[in-house]
Amino acid sequence: MDNKIIIFDTTLRDGEQSPGASMNTAEKLQIALQLERLGVDVMEAGFAAASPGDFDAVNQIAKQASNITVCSLARAVERDIKAAGEALAPAKYKRIHTFIATSPIHMEFKLKMKPDEVIKRAVEAVKYAKSFCDDVEFSCEDAGRSDLEFLKEICDATISAGAKTINLPDTVGYRLPSELSQMIGQMVQFIAGRAVVSVHNHNDLGLATANSLACVSAGARQVECTINGIGERAGNAALEEIVMAIKTRQDVFAPLYTDIICKEIYPTSRLIASITGIEPQPNKAIVGKNAFAHESGIHQDGVLKHKETYEIISAESIGLEKNSLVLGKHSGRHAFKDKLAALGFDLESEALNTAFEKFKDLADKKKEIFDDDLRALVAEEITKIPQAYEIVRLLQSSCNNALASASVSIKHNDEVVSDSALGNGTVDAIFKVVDRISGVSGILKDYKVTAVSQGKDALAKVDVKVEFEGFNAVMGHGLDIDTMMASAKAYVGALNSFLKMKRN
Ligand code: KIV
Ligand code: ZN
Repeated sequence: MDNKIIIFDTTLRDGEQSPGASMNTAEKLQIALQLERLGVDVMEAGFAAASPGDFDAVNQIAKQASNITVCSLARAVERDIKAAGEALAPAKYKRIHTFIATSPIHMEFKLKMKPDEVIKRAVEAVKYAKSFCDDVEFSCEDAGRSDLEFLKEICDATISAGAKTINLPDTVGYRLPSELSQMIGQMVQFIAGRAVVSVHNHNDLGLATANSLACVSAGARQVECTINGIGERAGNAALEEIVMAIKTRQDVFAPLYTDIICKEIYPTSRLIASITGIEPQPNKAIVGKNAFAHESGIHQDGVLKHKETYEIISAESIGLEKNSLVLGKHSGRHAFKDKLAALGFDLESEALNTAFEKFKDLADKKKEIFDDDLRALVAEEITKIPQAYEIVRLLQSSCNNALASASVSIKHNDEVVSDSALGNGTVDAIFKVVDRISGVSGILKDYKVTAVSQGKDALAKVDVKVEFEGFNAVMGHGLDIDTMMASAKAYVGALNSFLKMKRN
């Protein structure tokens, strides 16, 4: 059996199913380029049939990817497979990933199909997918709760129809490592090299990584995972955890290996966090803010004497250069471009010019600019959507025992409109003015402010979730050295997204 573990990244598909993580095509393209740099073998670029936007993203990635297999998900229905095949057409290496549920509960209540109908549909889907490309993956959704004999039957039939990879997901994150190891071991034996056995584990019981590693030890040779473990509900198995476990514990896993360039793990994690606005929890393994922080005196003393007393992997090995101070106000465009490339961004000339201007502007206000400031700045540039409304001026005042007030000037249709309002706090006052000027009333569902890097003058990043006219989770992001201005930008960003969605 081959010793290479194929890393199948599904950040752009399952990862995008995290609440609030939806991304536009420009954002997905940046991530795709970084995933290629990271060295993933297969990138699930999306679900082409889901919407015209998803089709476009898969298609653009298919055009740009050079050395990586680009994949699209498709239900086992003709329409989905056709969309996947067409979106992937320009790719040098392409794969269609088709699936149908195989557990009794899914077949009876969701699909309302008999097991033999499910097998027939799966075989037809694989055959149809083969008419678009040779590399076809078949997934038994909810394999973790499926009957083993039925799994063997459907996998046998789909392999005969041409599937080259058989994926057995623990869709609801129900299984324990010992159980999955047994199940995968039996399936590996049954499939006997006729297809690659793949696993796809969800994290509902916090076991996704442990389950994936148990499956690898049992003979699975493809692991489906996401950066930072983002994904549906509690998320997917985290790529960085699986890769670093295999690398760090070669005493257990050798001769198994992955082709991931570990130094690209941290830059990739930061890129995903800045684009999606979903920060890994501070104590998240490998990429969390505290993953390499030693708080107790005893630990600090130990690390100073010999790093490996308390560190099993080094920060440098995943590409973490602690808050490296970057450019200053005298830095030129060339140095700026080089730094962005090192951080994983590839900007066209117009976006590069705007980002450079923003950087200069920031460097005038803020003495020290860190990698994270640049990531946030550029992420804001590439996530930008057409600005139907744009904040041009904000004046606010508040006092601890009185209402706050805000005056806001907003540009709309080349005209600047100003208004003011009182509120229960400054954020409330600002959002009221925006509602009044736009004539669209939003309900704030979530509000989060984070300091992008460090220092009293750190950039503030505000993420909001707003309900507008029944669209209940419109996201907006704002970045500014002033927290209230960042809040105003985030709210107006959500408004612009809503208007764009409405137009579409
Ligand atoms: O979790 C799951 O079962 C999936 C499949 C569609 C592969 O995401
Ligand atoms: Zn999944």
